[in-house]
Amino acid sequence: MKLVLLGPPGVGKGTQAQQMSKTYSIPQISTGDILREAIAKKTPLGDKARAFIVKGELVPDDIMLGLIQDTLFGDNAPKGYILDGFPRTIAQAEGLQKLYEKHSDNLSAVLLLEAEEDQIVARLSARRTCRSCKAVYNLMTMPPKVDGVCDVCAGELYQRDDDRIETIQNRLTVYKKQTAPLIDFYKSRGILKTVDASGTPEEVQTNINRQLED
Ligand code: AP5
Repeated sequence: MKLVLLGPPGVGKGTQAQQMSKTYSIPQISTGDILREAIAKKTPLGDKARAFIVKGELVPDDIMLGLIQDTLFGDNAPKGYILDGFPRTIAQAEGLQKLYEKHSDNLSAVLLLEAEEDQIVARLSARRTCRSCKAVYNLMTMPPKVDGVCDVCAGELYQRDDDRIETIQNRLTVYKKQTAPLIDFYKSRGILKTVDASGTPEEVQTNINRQLED
């Protein structure tokens, strides 16, 4: 399976992708995680991406397409995957389509996760992430057993820079302007499946599995 998880920031793409990766034994490819790691390691990619991410803006399309070309079509490319956070603009989606055509391949499905905006803002404001293993928690709905400490690896939990309220609002605006047009892009290609993501993570997983079985 080659899947895309589409949806606004904080709707639960990363949470679901981690679970799906275990269920279906295919890797999660999160462009956000790749960029954050590049920033932490101070690589040239990280240096270019940092200024955009802290403001809640998108990293330019040419950088993202180069990154995804290397990841999906390079020497060690996985056979199946869950794309979490890519594509995010029409230019990225068209670029990806061209790469698939060149390799006589295609996406299996695009899953659109939907929830109300106030729920999304609440989820993002309370998110904490493990610095070491990247496990995701939520102070309201999925708190760690020990405050500030990862249940999985005992790493330090931190709040992402772009999860401050003013940046969250900008990310939502950017989503509506630049990413939401992908809904019609994939609907017109007949591969878009809509998933109610307002329930618990387990309920959302059930909704996803039902759509994939269809
Ligand atoms: P990225 O890391 O992709 O961020 P995002 O799309 O904004 O998504 P998030 O990671 O914020 O949210 P999510 O939907 O994964 O939610 P999560 O599962 O964590 O990108 C960051 C930045 O990188 C971008 O702003 C941009 O600058 C850049 N970038 C990345 N890709 C790019 C691209 N292709 N082009 C250009 N720029 C790019 O859940 C959120 C919280 O809610 C967590 O606390 C979780 O525990 C909780 N939660 C999840 N599900 C539930 C549930 N069902 N019930 C209750 N709580 C839940």
